[in-house]
Amino acid sequence: MSSASTFHTAIVPAAGLGTRFLPTTKAVPKELLPVVDTPGIERIAAEVAEAGANRMIIVANADKAALADYFRPQPALEATLAERAKFDLLAKVRRAPDLIEVVAAEQPEPLGLGHAVGCAEGQLGPEDDAVAVLLPDDLVLPVGVLNRMAQVRAEYGGSVLCAFDIPREQISPFGVFDVEETAEPDVKQVKGMVEKPAPEDAPSTFAAAGRYLLDRAIFDALRRITPGAGGELQLTDAVALLIKEGHPVHIVVHQGSRHDLGNPGDFLKASLDFALDHPDYGPALRAWLRERLG
Ligand code: G1P
Repeated sequence: MSSASTFHTAIVPAAGLGTRFLPTTKAVPKELLPVVDTPGIERIAAEVAEAGANRMIIVANADKAALADYFRPQPALEATLAERAKFDLLAKVRRAPDLIEVVAAEQPEPLGLGHAVGCAEGQLGPEDDAVAVLLPDDLVLPVGVLNRMAQVRAEYGGSVLCAFDIPREQISPFGVFDVEETAEPDVKQVKGMVEKPAPEDAPSTFAAAGRYLLDRAIFDALRRITPGAGGELQLTDAVALLIKEGHPVHIVVHQGSRHDLGNPGDFLKASLDFALDHPDYGPALRAWLRERLG
C-alpha cells in the first residue's frame, strides 16, 4: 500500500436498472459489458487496487448478483485451461479474483446515489476512517487520481473529491462545486456543492467526476438528508451538509480525460478509444475506420 493511502475500502454503487442499455440489461448488468475485452467493473477494481485499497463493496440489488460473482474464482474453468496449457487465458480468468476482495451489499430500493452509498456502511470495519467511492459509469484517465486525493486528505483532512473543469453549457448533469483557491493549483477548497444546477445557477465549472474519498462522517450526514434533485437521496447533499457543519472538503482538479459508460453512445466512444490503443485490435480498427469514414 502506498504511504499516502488513507483508505482500505472502496464502495462501488451499481444498483441502477441500466434502462439506457435495455434490452441487454434484462439479463446482463451494464457494469459487466466489455470495454473492448474487459468489463467496466474490472477496470474500476483495477483502479481501486492500484490505489492501495484491498476491499471493494459492490452495492447492487438482488438481481445483479452476477457483479460480485464475477470476482469469484472459477476452479473448474481454471483447471480446464491449465490442463490445456492455455496460460494466457488462465491469467485473464484469474485477474479479477486476484485484484481485490469483493463483498456485496444490497440496496433493496433505488432511492438514489446517497442511499446506495449508505447501504455499504454495515460492511465497513473499525479501520475504515475514510472510504473511496467510485461510480462505475465514470472512467477517469489516466488512472491515479485516487492517489492524489489520498495525499490531499493526508494534508488537509476531511473529504476529497475529484473534479473536472468542463464547459458551463455541459454542467447540468453533474454535481457542481463552489470553490476557493488554495496554494496548490490542482487543489481547491469547497465552500458548497449543488446537484444538477441549470448552467446559469452553477457556482463554478468544476463538476464532480465519479471519484470520492469520503471521511466516515459521510454516513451520519447521509442519514440526515432528505430527497433532493430528481426526488433522490443525493450524495452531493450529504457532502454539502458536511461542509455547512465545518467539515473540510477539497477537490483535486484532474487534468486528463473521462469516459461515460452510462449510455450506449458514450460507451462506444470509450470502447473505440481503448480499442485504438490495443496492440491486437488497434491497427486493423484504425485502417477500417479510415476506409469506413471515406
Ligand atoms: C452522479 C452524481 C453527480 C456526479 C455524476 C458524475 O450523477 O450525483 O454529482 O457529478 O454522478 O458522473 P448521475 O450521473 O448518477 O446522475
